[in-house]
Amino acid sequence: MSPLSLTRTLPADATAAALRADVAEGLSRTPKQLPPKWFYDARGSALFDEITTLDAYYPTRAEREILVANADRIAAATGARTLIELGSGSSDKTRHLLRALAGLHTYLPVDVSESALRAAGEALLAEHPGLAVHALVADFQQGLVLPEAPGPRLLAFLGGTIGNLLPGERAAFLRSVHGLLAPGDALLLGTDLVKDEATLVAAYDDDRGVTAAFNKNVLEVINRELGADFDPADFDHVARWDAGEEWIEMRLRARQDLTVKIPDLDLVVPFAAGEELRTEVSAKFREDRVRTELAAAGLELTQWWTDRAGRFALSLAVRT
Ligand code: SAH
Ligand code: TRP
Repeated sequence: MSPLSLTRTLPADATAAALRADVAEGLSRTPKQLPPKWFYDARGSALFDEITTLDAYYPTRAEREILVANADRIAAATGARTLIELGSGSSDKTRHLLRALAGLHTYLPVDVSESALRAAGEALLAEHPGLAVHALVADFQQGLVLPEAPGPRLLAFLGGTIGNLLPGERAAFLRSVHGLLAPGDALLLGTDLVKDEATLVAAYDDDRGVTAAFNKNVLEVINRELGADFDPADFDHVARWDAGEEWIEMRLRARQDLTVKIPDLDLVVPFAAGEELRTEVSAKFREDRVRTELAAAGLELTQWWTDRAGRFALSLAVRT
């Protein structure tokens, strides 16, 4: 068994600079907001894995159901020798693809969370001793450059993570995916679907408080990395369905007037009682919108699968 190969595409100080810029910009604007990639330090990745086991969090189970039912079709349609996965996290559902892809040579997981990549990579190598696993610590929104790997390649983006990008970011991201794909390669995209509000809100506001702890973890990251003095107990977790945008918004609401000091940025941030900081959106899709957004990026939807209950979809797309 070959050892796990892990490449950091960004020096640690570039990540630190990006966090500083995002926090300085996001907490100075009205309304306040932060980009979601900063949730995922080691504790955030562990909390997300716990979210995926909650009864109310249906997307993971629904997407797994689709993968189990269709992995052989995906393997036959793509014949992939390389599987690239963006935002791979625990790579848990990916096992169904790895099992079905008979000619697979290389697995290339990409994530900002080095701890998640290491844990997943070591586990997969133990299960697939012949597989080359090359993990990439990288931001998939920042001009991703992939190492050479044999084609055809399947680029998977699961978990509905595309819904965490804002519409403009999503368009730019899909364009960059188009640029990464060669003729014969394919994209496998997981999207959560529009459904009744109660089901959606429950998935992002569980009664055990795991989602709340995950949402507040971004404050702990800022405390640790930038010396800030956020008290997570000063904030309430809020999950709200925006029917116009068709997305869930995660926010942190200040319980009282307070100020937060961020010495590393020379910044003092005031919060009014009830003021909300947006930490994430999670867009929900319909087939038409997926097809249209793919087409706008030069990608053609060739297959559309849902779970039996119609909660979640997997799309296969190729370059036009
Ligand atoms: N694919 C897994 C994990 C989804 S959670 C699943 O379906 O369960 C989202 C994952 O994307 C996390 O592991 C997080 O660290 C990663 N991520 C979020 N933003 C990212 C970015 N900009 N670049 C790379 N990885 C990112
Ligand atoms: N990609 C996940 C999703 O949109 C991320 C997520 C799940 C999340 N639960 C959350 C983000 C709670 C913030 C808070 O479903």
